[in-house]
Amino acid sequence: MADAVTMDKIVSLCKRRGFVFPSSEIYGGLGSSYDYGHYGVLLKDNIKQRWLSAMVQERDDIVALDSSIILHPEVWKSSGHVGGFSDPLVDCKFCKKRYRADHLEDAQCGQRPSKRPGEAADCDLTDARQFNLMFETRVGAMEETGVPVYLRPETAQGIFINFKNVAGIARRKPPFGIAQVGKSFRNEITPGNFIFRTLEFEQMEMEFFVPPDKADEWYRYWVDERYAWHRKYGIRESHLRIRPHDADELSHYSSGTSDIEYLFPIGWSELEGVANRGNFDLTAHTEASGTKLEWVEQDGSRYTPHVIEPALGVNRSMLAFLVDAYDEEVVAERDRTVLRLHPQLAPVKAAILPLIGKSEDMTGRARKLYEELRQVISVEYDDGGQIGRRYRRQDEIGTPFALTIDEQTLVDDTVTLRERDSLAQERISIARAREHLLDRLAEPWSSPRA
Ligand code: GAP
Repeated sequence: MADAVTMDKIVSLCKRRGFVFPSSEIYGGLGSSYDYGHYGVLLKDNIKQRWLSAMVQERDDIVALDSSIILHPEVWKSSGHVGGFSDPLVDCKFCKKRYRADHLEDAQCGQRPSKRPGEAADCDLTDARQFNLMFETRVGAMEETGVPVYLRPETAQGIFINFKNVAGIARRKPPFGIAQVGKSFRNEITPGNFIFRTLEFEQMEMEFFVPPDKADEWYRYWVDERYAWHRKYGIRESHLRIRPHDADELSHYSSGTSDIEYLFPIGWSELEGVANRGNFDLTAHTEASGTKLEWVEQDGSRYTPHVIEPALGVNRSMLAFLVDAYDEEVVAERDRTVLRLHPQLAPVKAAILPLIGKSEDMTGRARKLYEELRQVISVEYDDGGQIGRRYRRQDEIGTPFALTIDEQTLVDDTVTLRERDSLAQERISIARAREHLLDRLAEPWSSPRA
């Protein structure tokens, strides 16, 4: 069993099996940017679907929204991002590298990587300066006359500025929420921890609007609810913890935040944040826009709802699932690398494998089954090479089930069903394969490892 999974192993598997590639690789790569291959896209999509299902489909107090990435620039002034969304940075005038002033301990000198910035004789560091994390661009054809705008650094503000639109038609009263999944952008200076922190990433954010006197109660509720979601999809208890922020760590908008932390290869780090944002955002946008973002009761009384916000990065969530799932073991004297992903997250649910790739009887039966199953779930057909190698390839991409068509299939219409985690094999009838797989995929799942 692999105890500590290194980031290198995850990066290597992701590239080898086509989950994640370094972005712009043929031009030498672009730091903190990644492209997602076939299995990466499927895994990310499954994470987003499970999140949306938990937020919107399985509840009746949350509705969905998809707001623009580029919003009116005043939004970011009112939200405090123009003035306050910054990191303290220092530049080295000698090697021209830029570092986070508060992370110098973890950084490497541009000239002498064995030393920290400032430690080598030639280092010439500037004083720390605040550097805004928002990417700026322009709307309009002309460079000189175009209006400066920002790529959103969080999806949340698109929700706040739509509060009136949504509350008007959602036929819900507080407590109710608005959920959104979409890209965000931050000009991060990072030490390169794969997809943990990137320049562009997807967020899954939900703003839950509540009466002010119920905010603490709902804050605790959402911390527990979100912790349970990560557990439900397989993250091991020993790798997950809740850490309330100290007062001096709180964001400018927050009166209480808890991080749900995961034990990444870089140590315990934020996976998801759950914040009590109070009435900061709705009040700020009301004051700046002149539009009242408030709730009016039937009796005419009115108040500004408080907001509880669970915010999770899709890519960071994917990294946590990959790290938690990664396992190496020796089976029958052969090494096996396996991704023990929750079956509902696995990019491919079942592999359809004719035992002998050259047997037309077997490939014909296998293709027929594949055609039937692909109508309802993500399946793969593979008839190339040794059966053992085909199993190992599926293990590495986390496919929970394999159906093998062999000699006996031709006699009695049964196939071998092989389980990824236990390696147990059983025979099931082809006629029941679809129903059987759908039942198995609907079952609760937990990691076989502690
Ligand atoms: N609206 C609140 C907000 O954006 P945040 O803690 O800055 O809060 C929420 O971000 C989540 O988004 C984080 O917990 C993390 O999962 C993800 N995230 C933030 N910055 C990221 C980045 N540069 N790359 C990847 N994921 C990021």
